[in-house]
Amino acid sequence: MATAELTGKHLVLGMTGGIACYKIAELTRLLTKAGATVQVAMTEAATQFITPVTMQALSGRPVYTSQWDARIPNNMAHIDLSREADAIVIAPASTDFLAKLAHGIADDLLSTLCVARDCPLLVVPAMNRQMWMNPATQRNVAQLRADGIEVLGPDSGAQACGEVGDGRMLEPEATYEAIASFFQPKILAGRRVLLTAGPTFEPLDPVRGITNRSSGKMGFALARAAQQAGADVHLVAGPVALDTPWGVLREDVQTAQQMHDAVMRAVPDYDIFIGVAAVADWRVDQVSDHKIKKTADKALPTFTFVENPDILASVAKLPHPPFCVGFAAESGNLEVHGEEKRVRKSVPLLIGNLGPQTFGLDDNEVILFEAKGATRLPRADKQTLAHALIAEIARRLPDASLIS
Ligand code: C5P
Repeated sequence: MATAELTGKHLVLGMTGGIACYKIAELTRLLTKAGATVQVAMTEAATQFITPVTMQALSGRPVYTSQWDARIPNNMAHIDLSREADAIVIAPASTDFLAKLAHGIADDLLSTLCVARDCPLLVVPAMNRQMWMNPATQRNVAQLRADGIEVLGPDSGAQACGEVGDGRMLEPEATYEAIASFFQPKILAGRRVLLTAGPTFEPLDPVRGITNRSSGKMGFALARAAQQAGADVHLVAGPVALDTPWGVLREDVQTAQQMHDAVMRAVPDYDIFIGVAAVADWRVDQVSDHKIKKTADKALPTFTFVENPDILASVAKLPHPPFCVGFAAESGNLEVHGEEKRVRKSVPLLIGNLGPQTFGLDDNEVILFEAKGATRLPRADKQTLAHALIAEIARRLPDASLIS
């Protein structure tokens, strides 16, 4: 997540009765850590599962549970609380609360402030699988969607009641990701983005190999930003220790050849290709099928290298290539080498990492190389930079005027 990516956002977090209330403690922490202010409102039933004191401590604000709360001077909690919000999130959203929302019932503080809102409403259902599958619930959810309400989840799996099926609330991290995504402009709606990220690993023998220090952070941040911008995202990742961004299709590979093959298989379905991976330029010709041993005469092993395919150049050379974006990490003279590399790889846009070593760091500074010249973007953490780069890419798409 970017540093304070929800700064300036004010959320009303409405909790209704359900065991998933325990997940909202963590969700509140994630939201406030990202810079959002969170005003918790709870139904009477929610207070049976977790106390308002806990939620007050985590949100740093008094919690509202009653329509008749004397702390609101004009006694219009339902109006005042919803007017301040950029969005209302109901999590967990019980069967009963979804039914009330679908029918416009306003018989307590939370349901009344939902009906009185003039901001977006997101609901995160949590219930037993039979309650979720009940035709009445399904009718109500369809109605909520038709009314423009965002329904996040539910997940599938083990339930608190011991049964297994649909209805589990999304985990706090996934709920956070869905909320963060909701606030991003959908500048890549309808687009399909294929990315490579991380290093490759070129084996020497069954236990050893050659790799590099790419952490994959920049590629994963771009995949997350593209997904949040509304694109379908396929991420081909070398060996990295990173979680898959929410909503992104991930394919793990080891070698440059495997990365190349995965990309070439997928690319006909994509309209943007972003090559962020630090792909090994060479691999050993013959990988030993047994661990190479030291010999008695201490002879050093020798390896013959062969060149790996250039994935970016291969994609750019296709008869109908997607919009191709390359990355470059140079150890010097980026201004010259960046543009040279862009032309050599025949891509419309190449992003050069400024600074000798950005691998593994959390922030980065880049120059954009394109035919009309070079532009420098300000230093930022990789996630903030990823959003900026996705906006730059969206603006340069050949039919950019077709999207809003
Ligand atoms: O040639 P160099 O490795 O500096 O180029 C960097 C760009 O080319 C990156 O976008 C990288 O992902 C891509 N590349 C590739 N296949 C290679 C080598 C680099 O796609 N074999």
